[in-house]
Amino acid sequence: MINPPVPLVGDGMLVPCVDGHDRPYVGLDAAASTGALRQVADRVEAFLPSYSSIHRGAGYKSQLATAAYESARDAAISFAGRQDRDDIAIICRNTTEAVNHLAYRLRLSRDDVVVTTVVEHHANLLPWPRVATCRYVECGPDGTFTAADVTAALELTPRPRLLTITGASNITGWLPPIDEIIVAAHSRGILVAVDAAQLAPHRALPAEADFVAWSGHKMYAPFGAGVLIGPREVFMDGDPFLAGGGAVDLVELGEVVWTDPPDREEAGSPNVVGAVALHAAIDALGEIGWPAIIDHDRHLAGLLREGLARIPGVRLLGPGQENDTLPVATFTVEGVSHALVAARLSAEDGIGVRHGCFCAHPYLMRLLGLTEDEVATYRDEVRRGDRSRMPGAVRASAGINTTEADVARLLAAVARVAGGEPSSVAYVQDPRTGDFSPDPAVAPWYGDVRSHGSSCSPG
Ligand SMILES: Cc1ncc(COP(=O)(O)O)c(C=O)c1O
Repeated sequence: MINPPVPLVGDGMLVPCVDGHDRPYVGLDAAASTGALRQVADRVEAFLPSYSSIHRGAGYKSQLATAAYESARDAAISFAGRQDRDDIAIICRNTTEAVNHLAYRLRLSRDDVVVTTVVEHHANLLPWPRVATCRYVECGPDGTFTAADVTAALELTPRPRLLTITGASNITGWLPPIDEIIVAAHSRGILVAVDAAQLAPHRALPAEADFVAWSGHKMYAPFGAGVLIGPREVFMDGDPFLAGGGAVDLVELGEVVWTDPPDREEAGSPNVVGAVALHAAIDALGEIGWPAIIDHDRHLAGLLREGLARIPGVRLLGPGQENDTLPVATFTVEGVSHALVAARLSAEDGIGVRHGCFCAHPYLMRLLGLTEDEVATYRDEVRRGDRSRMPGAVRASAGINTTEADVARLLAAVARVAGGEPSSVAYVQDPRTGDFSPDPAVAPWYGDVRSHGSSCSPG
């Protein structure tokens, strides 16, 4: 474990529970978004006085802000292990935007095959069929595949142009054998893109991948910046993903001279505050070091997964405990809807988890072992606007701020729900979202929060 724990801004915040007590919030949803590291918030605050337009201003502050932005770009290149290559870092919003950006920029056609996997998050699944023909690597019932399975898909004809694959699953925390897979693709002349959204806060990024994308908000820099890295030459020709100011050298009404990458790929005013935050997070993780982070993750993964698996009625999804995974545990509780489990953890114990399908529907349906007919039934219900029976699971995910006590609180709360302990309060389900919330007469604050639409259902 990282000792002392690394606190995030907002850790320990008291939240109301239905028994009338406020409890310190236990955030076990790091796989969705993490809070800000204190160093990140401090660096942003220190930067704000010199905040100004970047790449566009003659003033001193613009020079300072531009230098901060460009040094964040350099930090991203180093973080991805590409100092010695002619790669560029495109600073964008998040992994979703990065993958869409790449899918557009590779200028693929329907004749091009992209190999991807059923394990992917929608961010690395949905952009590809829009621009190419996809071939999918299947997983087994435990949610894994082997490098040989990927190689078999790479060998089929027509030969793929790209393999795009996650570095770690956001549902099971499984780590595909990414280095072996990259070697297999490269030895066949196939480019590799890695969705590193989950990997980035937990493990060194695979430097051998041709493209890599990740999000700041999952690595303690929640200020809206993400990164796409790839070889400069890929971005030298062709139209950029976004067209507009900052991406051009000269514009006439019928003619555009695009500027060089990376600026060519970043039309519009860049998110310099997000870049500064990302740089600070990269520095902070560098100071802690991967060995300490990995050790912490493995310890927490063991506590979470073994602890949950021991609770009668709890079924853990994904590979067995002997596998090295991120500190992520996704589970179902026999006889209790995933949405109700999550609502009870929040309302009765002040524990924040995610439930639902985690933006990776094909993977979750496989992990749950649903048949095509069952999925078709749920699809019809969702189309009618009724999500009350939507299948799903509950996910607890940890970060560098998570403590053993946090995990113990989760395990005790899940054991109570799984053991059939009745709640002191009635819960009401909203069929539009599938979410449960406690009786508003007992928990009026809950109604106020929910009225703004926080819901796990959209994937
Ligand atoms: C594996 C994976 N890829 C991509 C994404 C999308 O990230 P973002 O929402 O930051 O675009 C996520 C988000 O949960 C993810 O877990």
